[in-house]
Formats: sequence, C-alpha cells, structure tokens
Amino acid sequence: MDIKTITTTAFTGQKPGTSGLRKKVTVFQQQNYLENFVQAIFDSLNDFQGQTLVIGGDGRYYNKPATQTILKIAAANGFGKALVGQNGILSTPAASAIIRKYQAFGGIILSASHNPGGPQGDFGIKYNISNGGPAPEKVTDAIYEHSQTISEYKIVATPDIDLSQLGKTQIATMQVEVIDSVADYAKLMEELFDFSMIKKLFNSDFKMCFDAMHAVTGPYAKDILEQKLGAAIGTVMNGIPLEDFGGGHPDPNLTYAHDLVTIMYGNAAPQFGAASDGDGDRNMVLGQNFFVTPSDSLAILAANATLAPGYKDGLAGIARSMPTSEAADHVADALKIDCYETPTGWKFFGNLLDANLATLCGEESFGTGSSHVREKDGLWAVLFWLNILAVRKQSVKDIVYEHWAKYGRNVYSRHDYEGVDSKSANELMENLYHTFSHLKGKQFGNYIVEFCDDFGYIDPVDHSISQNQGMQIGFQDGSRIIFRLSGTGTEGATLRVYLEKYEPDIAKHHLDSQEELADLIKLADEIAGIKNYTGRDKPSVIT
Ligand code: G1P
Ligand code: ZN
Repeated sequence: MDIKTITTTAFTGQKPGTSGLRKKVTVFQQQNYLENFVQAIFDSLNDFQGQTLVIGGDGRYYNKPATQTILKIAAANGFGKALVGQNGILSTPAASAIIRKYQAFGGIILSASHNPGGPQGDFGIKYNISNGGPAPEKVTDAIYEHSQTISEYKIVATPDIDLSQLGKTQIATMQVEVIDSVADYAKLMEELFDFSMIKKLFNSDFKMCFDAMHAVTGPYAKDILEQKLGAAIGTVMNGIPLEDFGGGHPDPNLTYAHDLVTIMYGNAAPQFGAASDGDGDRNMVLGQNFFVTPSDSLAILAANATLAPGYKDGLAGIARSMPTSEAADHVADALKIDCYETPTGWKFFGNLLDANLATLCGEESFGTGSSHVREKDGLWAVLFWLNILAVRKQSVKDIVYEHWAKYGRNVYSRHDYEGVDSKSANELMENLYHTFSHLKGKQFGNYIVEFCDDFGYIDPVDHSISQNQGMQIGFQDGSRIIFRLSGTGTEGATLRVYLEKYEPDIAKHHLDSQEELADLIKLADEIAGIKNYTGRDKPSVIT
C-alpha cells in the first residue's frame, strides 16, 4: 500500500480549547482541515511507532468519514494498531476505559459533546493520553503550534475499510481492529456496581426512564439497563443514535432534556429518571417531581460511596471545580478526607486521580466521575445512583432530604447568558476585577463580602499554575457568587453566573432554589452590572 506525503497549507487560528478542537462541520470539511489537525497531533507526540491508538466518536455527522481519514493518517505515521469502535462509535468514557484497559498510547475522540450535530452543526476532535484522560496543556499547545506551521501530512492511499463488522484488517503496517463499542465498558461497570442488587430492584415495582437524547449512550444504556439489569424494554428513550441527534441539543439539563422532564414531572412518573449528553460523559438525575443538582449528586455519591462494591473501601479524597457547590466539602469534612477545589474543566482532575489523592470528582455542569476512567462518566453516575437506590430502598427525594438534614443544603443555581457580545463580556469581567479592591468588607443587605478572588490554581502534583479561572465573591454566611466566561462556546461569549447559599435550616429545604437565591441574583447584577453589559434582562439558560 501506498504512503503519500501531501503538501498542505496551515489554517491559522484553530487553537484547541479545554475539550479539543470544536468547529462547525463545514469548517472541518474544508480540504485538509481535519488532515492538518490530525497530523499536528501526531507531530506533537514521540515514540508511538508500533503502538496502539484508540479511535471512536459520538456518532454525530462526519464521525464516519473522519474516522476513515484518521485511520489512514495513523497508519502512514507508523502506529502499530488501531482499536476502533464499531461504526466509529465510542462514548467518551468508554474510549477512556479502552485506552486504559489495552494500555494504548492514546486515543482520538470525535465529539463536540452536547453541541448540536448534523451537516450545519458542530464537530470536534480531541486527543487523550495513555492514562485515558484529555491531553494536558503542554500537549495541546504543541498541537496548536504544529497546526500553525504544518506544510505536509502523511496518509495511506487505500479504500475505506468496513467499520460495521467486528474483526481485524490491515492498513499498510497498521492492524485495525473493529471492537464492540459497549462490551469493555459494560464489564467495567459490572466490576464497580452491585448488578445483582440493581437487578432485584428492577424486578420489584421500580421503574426508571433514561433519555439517551438520540446520542451515543443509547446502545450502552440499552445493553446495560435493559439487557444486563433487566429494566423493562422501553426504559431507554430516544435510544437510537442519530447523526443530528434528531435535531435536538443533546445536553442533559432541565431545558434541553424536555422529553424526560415532562415524564418525570408528570402524573405517572417512574421512581428514577436520568439523561446523558452527546458523547455520554454528562448526566442528569431526577426523582419523581424532583431534580438533583449535579453538585448535590456528587456529595450524595460521596456520602454513600461504600454502598457500591467498587468503592467499598472508601474514598481517597474528593475533587470539585471551583464553581461547583461546597456540598461535597461538607461530606469530605465528615469523612475526614480532603476536598480539592480545581479550575473548571475535567483535565484538572487527572493528576489528582493518577496520584490517588481523589477518588470521586465532579463539576456543577452535570459531570461526575471517578478514578475508574479519566473522563467524566454519565452512565456510571446513573448506575451509582441505581446502586444506592437498590441498597437504601428509598426515593430519590428522601435520600436528598436526608442528606440535607445531615449536612445542610447548598442551594445552588447557574445562570447562563449565551451569545453575548465578546467585547462587552470581557469588559464586564475587567470591570468586576477592578471593583474587587473595594468590595471586601462591604455590606449588601444581609450579605457581607468576606473575600474576592480571581481564582488561580497550583496543581498539587506537578505544581503547574493556572490563572484567571473565574471571579469569586464569598460572603460571610458562606454564600458565593462566581462569574466566568465559558471556554467552550462557539458563538460570541457566554457569561456564566454561579450562585450558592448555605442553608442549614431543614424547614427551608422545600423552597425553590430561584426563590431562595433571589437576593443573591439581584446582588450579582448590582455588583457586576450584568444587565448593563450584556443588554439582557434575564439569562438564556437557568440550571
Ligand atoms: C463547560 C462546563 C465545564 C465542562 C466543560 C466541558 O465549560 O462549564 O464544567 O468541563 O463544559 O464539558 P465552559 O463552557 O463553562 O468553559
Ligand atoms: Zn460531553
């Protein structure tokens, strides 16, 4: 077979974000765009000759042709073996699990996570290293550098291979093995959770509804929940992955997972509801008429961890991103373990997990995970909840209320202002930063500012420093308001305002979070001039 060196011209301005390179499909379809980026990835790596590369994606439009291209470039660059999910499909956590299990050199994941798909939608590509986690900044920086100066790439001139059949084929000297997308992942879940208890639960009158949102978790959820755990057929809704996610926005929150929300807040709601996103790393958990905030979910999983076989010996520590509520900190205190506060983005958990400083980690953005992989893991969180429900035999709501009674409630909400003019959003942040010097000690009604912080982080393992990770205002009663600009949006800027208030009083635990946070919501605008800078009188998404 023929290895060709193709002359190319670099595209500038394609800096990959924290979750890899995400662009419109039409951008990726430009001649040599994908090829350049893939070659730039390989140009940034050393000593991978003869090694294994894992390839898979969330099934969105362009997943299949991109997989073929990557295989041919990987073969031309000297990889020894490629493990590819059947039909090019691997959820992000499954890809992470497979990289670890087969000691691959790394993996390429094709996904734009929860962003809409289809010919007019988004596509994405990211590189994960041998621990199964996203490449650290020094690797993504090197990829970026190479993508700016690239002048040629190598590719094997060969017809596409059949990705629909399991088995082995060859591209030049590289063996390609098409593997079952679900099997390895399902096996890992079986090791972590008490499947026989969960089976018994599904054998009782317990019902659940899982919304796969026409994204990658459909086949995973059907196999694990319906086949292995005996949940009723039909438990998984929107279970067939579609290239455009059925026109939906595959983000599991109260706004976008509306099919599920309608069911769970309806008269015939099952006891448990859950959803996952485009690439299967996010999760949302619901009880009957009841929403569990991701921050609470992390805390509850931590408090109940020993009920699951995979965590029966307890947790080494917990980690949460800075804007995630402090609910997990209360559990860590009680367990006498550390709770690490990291910047937003899953990659910051990698070192803590590798060094066994933390076992569970989570973000307020519907991401929860553990040391079993190096990505957040949607279905894992759902199975963890099922394991807890199976052992405790209580409703989701009762479990959450008992948790609040014991640890207090961290009332929490995030307000997003999407598609804001970038210049105005930057001005808001800039202005906020300048007010910090005279905010400290200031009193606003019942709230007295205790600290103002332009959040920075020193990694406890490699001591690398990350600055400007969000503006945090802390009040004397433990409340916090945090302002951050999104690093993943593709149009304009997205301002995220995170609001948190600690409420130890059980009598107030039934109150709606927006009502409970009303004072802080007003205060956020008063301090930062949100309406003024964004020109919006309300957020586009509230979670
Ligand atoms: C968002 C979430 C963040 C998550 C990231 C990738 O990033 O807020 O927690 O790690 O997506 O899924 P943001 O757009 O806020 O930068
Ligand atoms: Zn995702």
